[in-house]
Amino acid sequence: MNTTIIDAKERLLTKEELSYLKETIKSGGLVIFPTETVYGLGANALSPTAAEKVYAAKGRPSNNPLIIHIKNPEDAEKFCKTNEIYKSLAKEFMPGPLTVILEKKDIIPFEVTGGLDTVAVRCPAHPIALQLIGECGLPIAAPSANLSGRPSPTSAKYCIEDMDGRVDAIIDGGESEIGLESTIVMPKDDGRILLLRPGAITPKEISKATGCKVEIAEGVLEEPEKDATPLSPGMLYKHYAPKTEFVLLSGSDEEIFAFLKEEKNSIFLGFDGDEKSVPAGVTLINIGKRNEPLSTAHRIFASLREADKQNKRVIFARLPGTDGVELALYNRMIRASAHRIHTLKRN
Ligand code: TXA
Ligand code: MG
Repeated sequence: MNTTIIDAKERLLTKEELSYLKETIKSGGLVIFPTETVYGLGANALSPTAAEKVYAAKGRPSNNPLIIHIKNPEDAEKFCKTNEIYKSLAKEFMPGPLTVILEKKDIIPFEVTGGLDTVAVRCPAHPIALQLIGECGLPIAAPSANLSGRPSPTSAKYCIEDMDGRVDAIIDGGESEIGLESTIVMPKDDGRILLLRPGAITPKEISKATGCKVEIAEGVLEEPEKDATPLSPGMLYKHYAPKTEFVLLSGSDEEIFAFLKEEKNSIFLGFDGDEKSVPAGVTLINIGKRNEPLSTAHRIFASLREADKQNKRVIFARLPGTDGVELALYNRMIRASAHRIHTLKRN
């Protein structure tokens, strides 16, 4: 397949581009588009065959459901049963980096939801994404636009790396603003909200907007049990993983840099200022500013991809904390490292 690349950095799509993209989506094709979180691999969410193409292009198991992207929060009603919690969340956070799981209506095929009775809905805050969804007049099913298992793409170049020749078009809208996928929540009948995937919108903010208790689902902070059936099927799969071994270090800066002295030919994903302390033989990749987890969110996936290309023996990073936005970093990094955490002890 020939992939058309549309350079739309710092501009909107033209009428001609929109009409080509609409034609592509309506005829069951695949279009990669930018969102504020990460790039999405989009298809008509009302078409079972289009959904099957998405799974095939990503190499993703078809029981791992897709998120449907809508133009207006009110459109959710056409595709699923909304409730008061959804309305409060929509009012506060949409358009934005939040996905809500709701009971699906018949119009959404089971191929999109991986056989589940629920569907994930999100209204992205990106002008190009909203233009595309609006032009098509359809909900767009879109997983992150990476090959299954690889870090989510935060710029068009990583979409091209993974997906050139596998999709009809890639819209280059520049770097993703946030860099981590949306926060996913599941409102429960008893008024609790389950957090299935942490993101830039934090449990505290969700609780404040809804007045509901937010519980962190199993598998967010720890490895799911082998035969578990997590609420979010995606938690079961290996994800974000570089090919190079990736190990998280738990300890003070002093302990970490003492440890790294013995780890030649490695990479350290560190903060601004670490260049003063990183020992010889260790390559520093800057992943942002200490105490500014959003700056790390923005860079983490690109850093993992770039670190992997250097073919070093091993990649190290600090184990993040679990408060606020750091919870999302913690979740992505323990999964990218396949839960390899090395705890350093002062001798
Ligand atoms: O920021 C995002 O959410 C990006 C952009 C493109 O919008 N999309 C994204 O999609 O991250 P994906 O497919 O890579 O991750 C969606 C996650 C998966 O882990 C999937 O298992 C879960 O959402 N999910 C989807 N539908 C679900 C459902 N009905 N119930 C539980 N989990 C669901
Ligand atoms: Mg993904």
